[in-house]
Amino acid sequence: MNKNKKNIYKRGPYKTKKRKLKKKVTIALIIIIAIMIILILLPFNTFKKDLKKLGYTNKEAETIDKVVSIQNHNLILKTKKNDTILKIITNSNYQDKNLKKYLTYYENNNNVSAEDIITIVNSGYDILDKDHNSSTAKLIKEKYFIAANLDRYITYKNNNKSLKTENIIAEVNSNLDKTQYVDTKEANTKDKNVILVNKYYYLDEDYEPTDLVTLTNTYNLGTNNRLRRDAANAFIKMADAALLDNIIIKNASGYRSYKYQISLYNSYESRDGKQAADTYSARPGFSEHQTGLATDINDVNQSFENTDAFKWLQKNAYKYGFILRFPKNKEKLTGYEYEPWHYRYVGKSIAKQIKEEDITLEEYYAYYVENDKE
Ligand code: DAL
Ligand code: ZN
Repeated sequence: MNKNKKNIYKRGPYKTKKRKLKKKVTIALIIIIAIMIILILLPFNTFKKDLKKLGYTNKEAETIDKVVSIQNHNLILKTKKNDTILKIITNSNYQDKNLKKYLTYYENNNNVSAEDIITIVNSGYDILDKDHNSSTAKLIKEKYFIAANLDRYITYKNNNKSLKTENIIAEVNSNLDKTQYVDTKEANTKDKNVILVNKYYYLDEDYEPTDLVTLTNTYNLGTNNRLRRDAANAFIKMADAALLDNIIIKNASGYRSYKYQISLYNSYESRDGKQAADTYSARPGFSEHQTGLATDINDVNQSFENTDAFKWLQKNAYKYGFILRFPKNKEKLTGYEYEPWHYRYVGKSIAKQIKEEDITLEEYYAYYVENDKE
């Protein structure tokens, strides 16, 4: 009964009118939406057609259409068809926001490959106003590339044409394009472990760490028996661990004052001459022994390399926060001959990273400490 009533009511003249109206509105809406879709799609279709007019194939036009945003259509259409541009657009590193820069760069450097253009522009470094080419792209792709050093890399490369790109980066980052003991800066002693002291970074005459502690004879051999607290604690842990493996590790020279380094360096200089002394001894103020974070272990002699203690240190020192500071084959970068006995405390995580990346403290400092500040 109720059901019938409802049906009768539904079929009433008022409801029919309403339904017709609804139908009309729906149709109108569909038409409006269809027109809108056509309007939106229209420019795309024109774009593809225009691309084909420029000489792009159907497939190429489709690719470009997919990657390039509407805002950039005109940029493409204003440029003659060419392979480099096509390669840029289809490169997996293409960034649509950079299209204008790619094209500008290409206009000025026709001989640079699409991939290199992408690398240079995507690097985001402000280098587009200069005449850069594939060798700049090579530099940028290097792991330890520092944007602020770009001009220095280029000058250094021009002066050392046969050097590999990776060496240019490593050497400039280590300041080899500067003059030792002349182009110097005061070492930053604020970060207590990552203080870099070398032929370009010096410590003041009166710099002396405030937390030096004395190692007992169990851990020490000579008169320079002090290290900064963290370094000393780490050294003790390392020596204790070594002893469990029947290896004896002792500090033969830790903290050395500026004054002490004067007499040490002078004695070497009068024995071997300045040039030779500079290859193995730091001038006063330029020795990291003054940081209280460096330790010469057991025997200051090249033959130390053949000992079990050295082998143990090679394997384990990083676990306690120490690095071999002047490694073999890195003499050019560190400025010193190989010193198998000289270890430097930098803390566990940095020591691990330096070991894993097989870099010197110079390289680490340039890329991970100074570079980050900019
Ligand atoms: N032997 C190292 C380089 C020093 O004198 O500090
Ligand atoms: Zn040393």
